[in-house]
Amino acid sequence: MRDVAIIGIGITKFGELWDKSFRQLIAEAGSKAIIDAGIEGKEIDAIYVGSMSAGRFIGQEHVGALVADSSGFAHLHIPAIRVESACASGGLALRQGYLSVASGMNDIVVVGGIEKMSDVGGTAATETLATAADQEWEAFFGATFPGIYAMIATKHMHDYGTTREQLAQVAVKNHANGALNPNAQFRREISLDTVIKAPPVAQPLGLLDCSPVSDGAASLILCPAEKAKKYTDKPVKIIGSGQASDTLALHARDSICTFNSTVYAARMAYKQAKKTPKDIDVAEVHDCFTIAEIIAIEDLGFVEKGEGGKAIDNNITTLDGSLPVNTSGGLKAKGHPVGATGVAQVVEIVTQLRGEAEKRQVKDATIGLAHNVGGCGASCIVHILEAM
Ligand code: COA
Repeated sequence: MRDVAIIGIGITKFGELWDKSFRQLIAEAGSKAIIDAGIEGKEIDAIYVGSMSAGRFIGQEHVGALVADSSGFAHLHIPAIRVESACASGGLALRQGYLSVASGMNDIVVVGGIEKMSDVGGTAATETLATAADQEWEAFFGATFPGIYAMIATKHMHDYGTTREQLAQVAVKNHANGALNPNAQFRREISLDTVIKAPPVAQPLGLLDCSPVSDGAASLILCPAEKAKKYTDKPVKIIGSGQASDTLALHARDSICTFNSTVYAARMAYKQAKKTPKDIDVAEVHDCFTIAEIIAIEDLGFVEKGEGGKAIDNNITTLDGSLPVNTSGGLKAKGHPVGATGVAQVVEIVTQLRGEAEKRQVKDATIGLAHNVGGCGASCIVHILEAM
């Protein structure tokens, strides 16, 4: 296996982007990454793109070929592969691209992630997202992701004493970070009181505990680490890549407060990277709902199980804390165009490790972690990156 580096990044603004099509979004993110890396189209060996449900959101399947075509590469006849793992589609596209370069099969690979969710109404978006839950055991009975995560939050509060305020504080922190990110969907700070008094969605979660419905795309350029300095003086190496799965439905798990896919994917990534949770300087974790960030920091080993709420109280995860989490604003404030999210998380980590995150820069960050979850933890991808 060869070492692999990220030499280019690109991202669009996230939000309700009525004036931009699916094609325009992926072409924008891809061309930004290509320009950032300073590569030429003819150097690209393959494209991997994460998209959860373009078929239901915009009526378009065959996304791999579409992305190559709309990026202007149809005449190059490059292999173009669409990757799906629900909300972890982007993270998995990166892992597939990474494996193809590490194996020696490809040299220059473009990894993309995209979703255009806001062209359908709220009900259709919720039903489409719920296709990632277990249809027979959950969705058939009316369970949606806000409802499923609300159950998980209720159990976490019961078992570990996590409070409504601690959940809300995750949203307050991530909105404060999002306010510093020019590409974030929501760039406004919010107060604890506003989160707690927001309209209920599924108790105990309110509107401001939820990630939004979003449009957006992100892209990365990969190459063998030994060739990276030819393209950029700020390459970032992928030092760990882990992937794991779990039961699709919650009821079959020993605990709904632990996502074993995160535990196992993180274990794989830490082992490969020869790092421990203490080595991580900055992390982007999958905060699709506020409770999800609390569970993620526990399952990634940043704090003990049940201590995630207290970590929020103690400001460990704020921009100036000992382990800043979701400096981009996270899914909560940056937005969550599901197929793009896993790639966008890595764009943020690379930005941090290059020292280019401006007002949200974490001082002396050299090692970062990205954690991308599918559904309510049936799949998970973890990447650990290090500035070269
Ligand atoms: N956070 C902050 N503000 C939000 C928001 C969110 N998650 N979702 C919507 N808003 C804002 C909108 O900008 C709008 O503000 P405006 O009136 O100032 O323009 C207002 O709230 C109403 O927006 P609307 O689109 O009508 O909200 P909605 O009630 O249809 O949808 C949710 C709100 C929370 C139900 C929806 O965002 C949702 O389903 N989120 C979860 C997505 C999800 O499950 N993702 C997969 C995770 S596994």
